[in-house]
Amino acid sequence: MPNPTLKAPLSLDVYANSRKVGTLAELPDHRIAFEYSPEWLQSGFSISPFSLPLKSGVFIPKSYEPFDGLFGVFSDSLPDGWGALLTDRLLRSKGIDPYSLSTLARLSLIGKNGKGLLEYRPSQALKESFHTIDFDELAKECEKILDDQPSKDLDALYGLGGSSGGARPKINTFVDGEEWIIKFRTHYDSTWIGQEEFDYFTCAKSCQIEVPEFRLFPSKTSPGYFGCVRFDRSNQEKIHMVSAGALLETNYRIPNLDYEILLKLTWLLTNDMEEVIRMFRLACFNVFSHNRDDHAKNFSFLYKDGRWRLSPAYDLTWSSSFGGEHATTIHGNGKNPGPVDLQQAASSIGIPSKAAQTIIQKTKANVEKMLKNTLQKHRPH
Ligand SMILES: Nc1ncnc2c1ncn2[C@@H]1O[C@H](COP(=O)(O)OP(=O)(O)OP(=O)(O)O)[C@@H](O)[C@H]1O
Ligand SMILES: [Mg+2]
Repeated sequence: MPNPTLKAPLSLDVYANSRKVGTLAELPDHRIAFEYSPEWLQSGFSISPFSLPLKSGVFIPKSYEPFDGLFGVFSDSLPDGWGALLTDRLLRSKGIDPYSLSTLARLSLIGKNGKGLLEYRPSQALKESFHTIDFDELAKECEKILDDQPSKDLDALYGLGGSSGGARPKINTFVDGEEWIIKFRTHYDSTWIGQEEFDYFTCAKSCQIEVPEFRLFPSKTSPGYFGCVRFDRSNQEKIHMVSAGALLETNYRIPNLDYEILLKLTWLLTNDMEEVIRMFRLACFNVFSHNRDDHAKNFSFLYKDGRWRLSPAYDLTWSSSFGGEHATTIHGNGKNPGPVDLQQAASSIGIPSKAAQTIIQKTKANVEKMLKNTLQKHRPH
C-alpha cells in the first residue's frame, strides 16, 4: 500500500460504549469471522439475533457476498453512496488506491465514527472534527464532488459525512447540543428536495408515524435543507441500530423484500404487535406517498433498554426504485399497490381487518391532502 501509515489489519476488535463486544478476523478466502468476547457473553446482548445469537463459538458468514465478507450488522457500519464516494476521493488525494483496501481496513477507517453503537479498534480513522459551517457553501462543494471536480473542502466534507449512509450528500453535525443529519441535493433532485422531505415528515407525523425531530434549515439558494435529529444518539450515548437488510443478511440493492416479510421480521424481533402496527403504518405511508425507494436499508431497528423496537421513520420522499416500482413489494405488488394489497399484508401477520382499514383510510386521506396542497407547487405529479 503506498501510504505506509495505513495498515491492512487481519483482525479488529468490536467495541460498544467501551465494552468489548468481540473480535473480527479475516479468513484466507476473505470471509470475516466473528466471535463474541467472554465479557459480552456474560452481560451483553445479541447484536444481530438471527445470524449472531449470543453464544460462544466462531461465526462465519455463508459467503463473501453480499457484504464483502462481513455479517450484515458490521457492513451497516460502512458508508455507502455518498460516504463511500468521499472516502475513495480522500484516499486518492493521499495517494492510496481505494481498491487496495480490504474490508477490515475500511472498517478500521470508521473507528468510532460509525452510525449506531459499534466501534472498531485499532482505529485508523482519517476523520477530524469540523464545526463552523455554512450550509450553502457545503452544498456547493458537494455538487463539485458529484461533478468530479476538486473541492477545497474535501477534508471537511469527509469529516462531516464520510461515515454516513445513503446516496445523497449529507453531514452529521451538532445543532443546539444534539447530533443532527442534514441532507443536500444530488443532481437528480430538484432544489425543492429539502422542502419536500420536510412536507413528507410533517405528513408522516400526522399519520401517527414516529419521526425524529426535524427542521428545514435556511438557505439563500434553495427553499432550505432538510435535517433531523439522530435517533442512534441520545444525550451523546450511542444506541445500537441495525437495518432490516443486515438482520436478514440480504443486499439492499436487490429488490427481494415484501412488506409481509418486514411485518414478520418486526414481530419476530420485537414480539410486540404495537411495533408491527408501526411498520404497517409506514407501509401505508410509503404506498400512498410514492416513496418507492423503500429498500432494505431504509428500515432499521434499535436495541435500547433491553428490547428491540422499530426505529423512527426516515428517508421519506417521492421516489422510485427499479423500473419505477417499489423496492419492497406489497403482497407481491410493486407496480400499482393499493388498499387491497395493504389489507392482505395486514392479515398475513394478524392485524385485525378493521384496524388495518382505519389506518389505510386515514393515511391515504392525509397523504393525498399533502400531495395536493404542498407538493404540486414544486413537483408535477
Ligand atoms: N434520524 C436518523 N438517525 C440515525 N440514523 C439515520 C437517521 N436518518 C437516517 N439515518 C441513517 O442514515 C442513512 C442515510 O439516510 P437517508 O436514508 O435519509 O439518506 P439517503 O441518502 O436519502 O438514502 P438513500 O440512498 O436510501 O436514498 C440511513 O440508511 C440510516 O441508516
Ligand atoms: Mg436511505
